[in-house]
Amino acid sequence: MTVTREEKQSLIDLANEARKRAYAPYSKYQVGAALRTKTGRVFTGVNIENAAYPHTMCAERVAVFKAVSEGEREFEIISVATDNGGSPCGGCRQVLAEFGLDTIVLMADKDGRLIKETTVRELLPEAFTPEKLKP
Ligand code: THU
Repeated sequence: MTVTREEKQSLIDLANEARKRAYAPYSKYQVGAALRTKTGRVFTGVNIENAAYPHTMCAERVAVFKAVSEGEREFEIISVATDNGGSPCGGCRQVLAEFGLDTIVLMADKDGRLIKETTVRELLPEAFTPEKLKP
């Protein structure tokens, strides 16, 4: 299914809205994500930091985990909004790869500008996917 320009912008706007709810008192780097499933449902996520720093969770993974826990495993597109259009970390790339390399990834800044459009496949070359575990 194709994703229109308007739909992409709406996912970017949703990610930026969610971003306001980020809990990032330590880094002050607020991240929001909006993940659309192949069934058309949208799950948002924000980064959630912790006083015990390593227990912080990224916005993208919160969105993916919310979706999976609600029974969704097939994703079409995720938008990630940060102050400066930053890209998803390696851990989030790996988690996204688990559910498909063709998921479109939009990186946007705080003003809702699309900084880059790519795919999980491009972000994680030679990904370790579920197929690799097959005998
Ligand atoms: N962060 C995300 O939420 N997603 C990423 O892909 C990169 C990093 C968060 C984690 C932490 O709360 C803050 O950004 C600074 O690393």
